[in-house]
Amino acid sequence: MGKNIAILTGSPRKNGNSDLLAKAFAEGAQSAGHKVVILEAGKKRIRGCIACKKCFSKGTPCVFDDDFNGIAPEIEKADVLVISTPIYYFSFTSQIKAAIDKMYSFYVGEKALNIKESVLIACGETEEPSEFEGVTQTYELIANFMQWHDRGVLTVPNVNEIGDVNSTEAMEAAKKLGMSI
Ligand SMILES: Cc1cc2nc3c(=O)[nH]c(=O)nc-3n(C[C@H](O)[C@H](O)[C@H](O)COP(=O)(O)O)c2cc1C
Repeated sequence: MGKNIAILTGSPRKNGNSDLLAKAFAEGAQSAGHKVVILEAGKKRIRGCIACKKCFSKGTPCVFDDDFNGIAPEIEKADVLVISTPIYYFSFTSQIKAAIDKMYSFYVGEKALNIKESVLIACGETEEPSEFEGVTQTYELIANFMQWHDRGVLTVPNVNEIGDVNSTEAMEAAKKLGMSI
């Protein structure tokens, strides 16, 4: 039976490298019979968690009604969460990090999520593999804490301008990763 896959994207740039990788992953996953939704956290207005711990007190996950509450129902439906992000200063973009932080609302509100598996796709300008450790290590810690089974990490170096990733093998790798879920 197909799984519900939510892909959370981190770039504020439309059709940038991480968006293209997300689409390639989605194509692979859909061809394997899964249902995919792409949640463009990087292009939405999501403020950081302020630790008020009033999550769900007004019915919605966050009491501040920003775009997180719009994507939250899709996160609630997901069996698999895919994070596709550029690296900014060796880490996640602040936009996607704000969305990830707000998943704290499910924890505070004691709403169990269905997510059992996760994937990380990260791209950057650097050619140095170790410079991806900020995101890969954080992702591993998050997956471990959330009890998500890691289904794969794809790091894509040497991409900077929009579309650079199209001339790399990473697009095929992302598609294959999607098919493997
Ligand atoms: C604010 C900012 C910080 C960045 N920091 C890094 C970095 O630390 N390491 C790196 O390899 N690339 C860095 N980059 C480059 C992006 O990761 C790269 O251009 C990536 O391909 C953008 O993905 P996108 O096309 O999906 O937006 C940075 C870009 C910006 C705008």
